[in-house]
Amino acid sequence: MQLKRAFFQAFAWSSLFDLVSGAPVSSKNSSSSQTSASALPSVADWATWGVAQVPNVLNATAADANSLAKGYRVVKSHYTQNGLEAKLKLINETNIYGYDFDSLTLKVEYQSDNRLNVHIEPTDLSDVYVLPEHLAFKPKAESEFYSFSNADLVFTYEKDPFTFTILRASSGEELFSTAGNPLVFSNQFIQLNTSLPLNHTITGLGESIHGFVQEPGSVKTLFANDAGDPIDGNIYGTHPFYIDQRYDTNTTHGVYWRTSAAQEVIIEEEALTWRALSGVVDLYFFSGPTVKEVISQYVHEIGLPGFQPYWSLGYHQCRWGYSTIQELDEVVKTFKKFEIPLETIWSDIDYMDSYKDFTTDPHRYPAKEFKKFLDTIHDDHQHYVPIVDAAIYVPNPNNASDNYTVFESGNSSETFLRNPDGSLYIGAVWPGYTVFPDFFANSTQEWWTESFAEWYKTIEFDGIWLDMNEVSSFCVGSCGSENYTQNPVHPPFVVGSSPTSYPEGFSKSNKTEYHSIESSISASSASVAKTASSSSTATSTSSATLDSKNTLETGVGNINYPPYAIYNWQGNYDIATHDVSPNATHADGTLEYDVHNLYGYTQTNATYNALLEIQPNKRPFIITRSTFAGSGQWAGHWGGDNNADWQWMYFSIPQALSFGIFGIPFFGVDTCGFNGNSDSELCSRWTQLSSFFPFYRNHNVLGAISQEPYVWSDVTEAAKTSIGIRYSLLPYYYTLLQEAHTTGLPILRALSWQFPEDRSLRAADRQFFVGDALIVTPVLEPLVDTVKGVFPGSGETEVYYDWYTQEAQDFEAGFNETLDAPLGHIPLHVRGGHILPLQEPGYTIHDSRKNPFSLIVALDLDGYASGKLYLDDGESVNITESLYVDFIAEGHSLTSAAYGNFNASQPLANITILGVDSKPSNVTFLGEEIDFSFANNTLLVTDLEDYTTGGAFAEEFVLTW
Ligand code: GLC
Repeated sequence: MQLKRAFFQAFAWSSLFDLVSGAPVSSKNSSSSQTSASALPSVADWATWGVAQVPNVLNATAADANSLAKGYRVVKSHYTQNGLEAKLKLINETNIYGYDFDSLTLKVEYQSDNRLNVHIEPTDLSDVYVLPEHLAFKPKAESEFYSFSNADLVFTYEKDPFTFTILRASSGEELFSTAGNPLVFSNQFIQLNTSLPLNHTITGLGESIHGFVQEPGSVKTLFANDAGDPIDGNIYGTHPFYIDQRYDTNTTHGVYWRTSAAQEVIIEEEALTWRALSGVVDLYFFSGPTVKEVISQYVHEIGLPGFQPYWSLGYHQCRWGYSTIQELDEVVKTFKKFEIPLETIWSDIDYMDSYKDFTTDPHRYPAKEFKKFLDTIHDDHQHYVPIVDAAIYVPNPNNASDNYTVFESGNSSETFLRNPDGSLYIGAVWPGYTVFPDFFANSTQEWWTESFAEWYKTIEFDGIWLDMNEVSSFCVGSCGSENYTQNPVHPPFVVGSSPTSYPEGFSKSNKTEYHSIESSISASSASVAKTASSSSTATSTSSATLDSKNTLETGVGNINYPPYAIYNWQGNYDIATHDVSPNATHADGTLEYDVHNLYGYTQTNATYNALLEIQPNKRPFIITRSTFAGSGQWAGHWGGDNNADWQWMYFSIPQALSFGIFGIPFFGVDTCGFNGNSDSELCSRWTQLSSFFPFYRNHNVLGAISQEPYVWSDVTEAAKTSIGIRYSLLPYYYTLLQEAHTTGLPILRALSWQFPEDRSLRAADRQFFVGDALIVTPVLEPLVDTVKGVFPGSGETEVYYDWYTQEAQDFEAGFNETLDAPLGHIPLHVRGGHILPLQEPGYTIHDSRKNPFSLIVALDLDGYASGKLYLDDGESVNITESLYVDFIAEGHSLTSAAYGNFNASQPLANITILGVDSKPSNVTFLGEEIDFSFANNTLLVTDLEDYTTGGAFAEEFVLTW
């Protein structure tokens, strides 16, 4: 018998938190209990309770390792061909948060002129986790011998107690120094402390919802966590890298701790303390000296971002709650009806059969209709991306019809995480009790690839959305070990009820409008059966029995409840809450404790390999929730479960800038907001803001009102305007994608990176640059029709042109300008000095690419501008044909010179030159005099198609005026 699943009730993780104090509360106190009876049992509520921990950072009586530990002394040292090696001996055992290693080996390696590695590990490696090179790139010395004369970084140290300092060679400036603080190195606690200059500017360290700069007082917990975008809490990804931008010297450096351990970083006025709960010290210093150089140097070492396919730049629509294939089809058609470009339609878990990966619901998403739907959208050059969750359903052995081959084959090839006693680790996710693929096991890649390949035979997806891969589990410990025979079961909380919240300002702005359209839209929640789950009588493994290694014996450690408690943003702060427990064990014996932060990363890698296997020469398109340093090689990232409210719209900017630093430039957030209801005003503003993010997707929680751009007329107009701008800029964006892929440079850029000498911009995160040429100034609050923005250097060294009027703006450097921004208008400016390649927008990327090109030349104050264009077929992995075009405008002449063998056959239509002093007497193109128009210092030439029939850039051309 195929058990029919009831639908979940809406669930917002924020309900786990006391929103007033912002602190996680015990789930015992949260109102997540089930409300009425249903056919299915559910995971017991109490199985979700962690064991209450007192995070050290909240514990005033906690031991301070800096004042108690005695540190190490250097007992032996010698120089090597590219650095130094030394033996360190523990001065005095203090065992504050774990047992101290007695003897350490220090290796300092000058890896290149701008990169230096400080590696410290226990001399006896038998009881320590060392992150292997095959899991995460380990930066290597560029040569066996290093000639120290060109080093930009210098390592110096004190012997007793051992402390070290990294200096910038050129200036003698201290970049990192542990002087005055002991090194603490024990099995469950490593601590480094560096001084920072007063008024420092630290960015990076993720993932969290936070302003761009980490001001004093920030506590960054680095522990992958499925939490719905709480402000300042740890969320899905882990990026142990920070950038220290110094305005006094106008130099910047970066520091990367290559570790998969749970970490906490505390930033104070003049110090940064970095703690890790396992592993070794493996620090890399990048000398920059510009911010962009630091980012590029770092991203080169963790893995350059993969090259996303061209189509990924189109508009993506998603929601949780497209409950049938007909509804999905209707969405695609409605976009077309309203003439809003739709490139990719996504499926959340709705399409699955009882929420099991690699299945489709036979009634709501029957295979035949599904295939027909996919054929149609593919014929229309649109794309389809379904979600795949990390957890795998465990079929009920007492129910013969509950067979699930994906589980069976995975289980027989031993691909799942285990308990320390060797039994399967069974947690709980959407389908009920589940196991978790172990991407460390030798057999897992083959099974994972096979699962995708088999599924692809019926569902021809174009990309994959990886979710719940922190790895999330709704109960503490292996709660299903004794209960999986009850499967399928409900999650232990209520999911799917309609949220009652609306964005700030809603009552004043557009309440009426929503009510008037409410009846006319098919809010997908209406078609969802709202069957609540029953309270369970199920027994479960108690949290007290979950850890067979839960011992306090000295020297053994406490895996599930480490002596140092991090501030983990979950109920009771327990690191096993809402996550697979730290004692889950990988095939090679590695404990999840040591590699928890790598789960999503290894899964993303395996998924990339699987997709490549299915279509060897198509760039895999993957969006993943949990990321680690290097995930960008295989995937982009979305910002997770944000809220449909203004603050989260603002936070999308610092989150995007941070992911640029982390080497994951293909980033976007749930446009219009995930949790809660959106409204017309917020959705209109957000749709316009996100249109400038590399990844542009609207996504919504189950039960919330619909928020596709056709739902509100204001949003429809806003979407058409900004999708129009985005699509016209596609050649520019694609060139930036390629640049990110080859240099590691982010696509969205902070003002402080563009103008590093201007301290007033250090924390600017309400505006951003797209590449170097465009600056976006979005409205981030309700009920206003102006927005303030800064335009650095304006009137002194810089000129900015309004995108819409094409006129040079009379801005003043250092002044907060007030810009008109009525609803539906997002201020966009072109920075003088840049040339933008454009193409006329079409309905899809495929259509757009068939249209003529044009150029916008925005002259700087000296009449100069430059730009570039990169093109290829947009999807090949092995690129055999590509085209690079360089544009330069100076001295009243514009030159385009191309090299490469990709044939961009579309002609050039127009060239617009902004900032031309006076009307020229004549204009020539390819030596021939041509017609032109001139108004407001803008020169426009049109109808160039006849001159460029062989392709816009096939021949070098010169335009003079
Ligand atoms: C998680 C995802 C969210 C998705 C939901 C249901 O909360 O972050 O995007 O809609 O699961 O699959």
